[in-house]
Amino acid sequence: MIDHDVLVIGAGLAGMRAALAASESGVDVAVISKVHPVRSHSNAAQGGINAALTDRGDPWEDHAFDTIKGSDYLADQNAVEVMCSEAGREVIAMEHMGVIFSRDDEGRLGTRAFGGQRQARTFFVADFTGQALLHVLYEQVLKVGVRTYEEWFVLSLIVEEGQCRGAIVMEIRTGDIHVIRAKAVILATGGLGRVFEPSTNALICTGDGMALAYREGVSLMDMEMVQYHPTTLKSNGALMSEGARGEGAYLINSDGERFMERYAPNMMELASRDVVSRSEQTEILEGRGVDGCVFLDCRHLGEKVINEKLSQISDLARDFANVDMSKQPVPIRPGMHYQMGGIKTDVDGCTSMRGLYAAGETACVSVHGGNRLGANSLLDTLVFGRRSGEHAANFARGVVERALNDGLIDRENRGIQAMMDRAGEGELFGSIRLDMGRTMNERLAVFRDDEGMRDAVSKLTELRNRFDSVAVTDKGKTFNTNLLFTLELGFMLDCAEAIALSGLERKESRGAHFRTDMPERDDKNWLKHILVSRGADGPIIENTPVIITQWEPQERKY
Ligand code: FUM
Repeated sequence: MIDHDVLVIGAGLAGMRAALAASESGVDVAVISKVHPVRSHSNAAQGGINAALTDRGDPWEDHAFDTIKGSDYLADQNAVEVMCSEAGREVIAMEHMGVIFSRDDEGRLGTRAFGGQRQARTFFVADFTGQALLHVLYEQVLKVGVRTYEEWFVLSLIVEEGQCRGAIVMEIRTGDIHVIRAKAVILATGGLGRVFEPSTNALICTGDGMALAYREGVSLMDMEMVQYHPTTLKSNGALMSEGARGEGAYLINSDGERFMERYAPNMMELASRDVVSRSEQTEILEGRGVDGCVFLDCRHLGEKVINEKLSQISDLARDFANVDMSKQPVPIRPGMHYQMGGIKTDVDGCTSMRGLYAAGETACVSVHGGNRLGANSLLDTLVFGRRSGEHAANFARGVVERALNDGLIDRENRGIQAMMDRAGEGELFGSIRLDMGRTMNERLAVFRDDEGMRDAVSKLTELRNRFDSVAVTDKGKTFNTNLLFTLELGFMLDCAEAIALSGLERKESRGAHFRTDMPERDDKNWLKHILVSRGADGPIIENTPVIITQWEPQERKY
């Protein structure tokens, strides 16, 4: 058995920030990740990280208001206050650790405009901000001696007497199963993007943390709130950063018209993401798109801006759309990008289970509500990663070690062996995964309605039945990716169920959850969060009020 005080599951920004904070609090910390830490999906974050700095005439309360308005008033305002008031210190801390942020002409840290915000407060490193942050945090984690288990996969949490006491894990290289005992566990496994097909998310974003918690009866919150990013490439769903619009790029339709004038005359292309994605989809549905797309037009930005600030997306446009961004508009469309919901936590990362914490996209603190502002996700990972690391370390100090129940490894081995031994010509995971992804992208996308969501729920039941007889044809133990992807699919089906059930439950339109059959926001009945958890007889749906501190809900216009 392996023993640590704090076990962090996931090595993206939230996980490594949590590990660093816990380690600095003086406890023994380990990080486990199914990929090498610098291959985590935080690597793909492009445009930047928000922080309002008072000495630049931008009080944090303005950032908080923009975030709450962006959330369509579903975010808990106490949590938003924490995130926005601690943002400046977190960005400066990262700079001091070694992140080389892009600078302005006076040599100060530069900022660019991002959607839904009245100030340019997005700090950035060209269009690969996540990568820059991730590499620096990995250096820090190595420096303080945090143990990292790279390419290890978590099969389940260990829960005894209502408390999380570690995890059962598989070393991918050997297929061996181990018990890791821990006094506190932090889930920081990132998002679930690949429950949808296509998605901007890496193939590893399979909702593992959300499903691990859900299976133990821990509540997931706001799962119906799925963000479609306005600018993704048609060919493969790759992200074309909002940073492009922040630098001044236009969105145009087949007539060459800047159509956002009709939907958001004040903020235009920099309205919030839900609004821009719906506008694009409306243009496409009403026949003013081309081949299911509208266009991102960067031609007027010039080669210098493109080469210096948007080089990554310029490469993506060239490689995957065969377009030179400085000469032609890029065909783009809304694509699944982010899950606003997740494991319900408080502002210290505590979940409803003692000893279990969550941070980053897998968590719902809740700072994003119905719609996340671009560049608030990196901020969320760092602020709440740090806070959960600190809190978990304190908690761990008070936990008295005890022996775990016998037979934990045998139980996991039996489950996996049963899957491997299945007789007959069972179906492989791939076709089930594709059917799930397409169903979700058709039924729970930018526009939804009752009939479509009901259809998704019944399709997901069929997919679950198919999954019950899925075959694993690789019977080996070494790097068995066939087994791994099958286990991930089990996690994804749990997440899909939580999304579809929560979507059906919310009988109004708010943020990213836009119902064509109920197009109005209904604060009287639905200014509340939807919680879904798994009970002995199936999913349980509950509600909890939104926390309002100082900003009463208003009509939302951009
Ligand atoms: O468009 C982007 O660069 C994405 C940023 C984000 O999702 O925060």
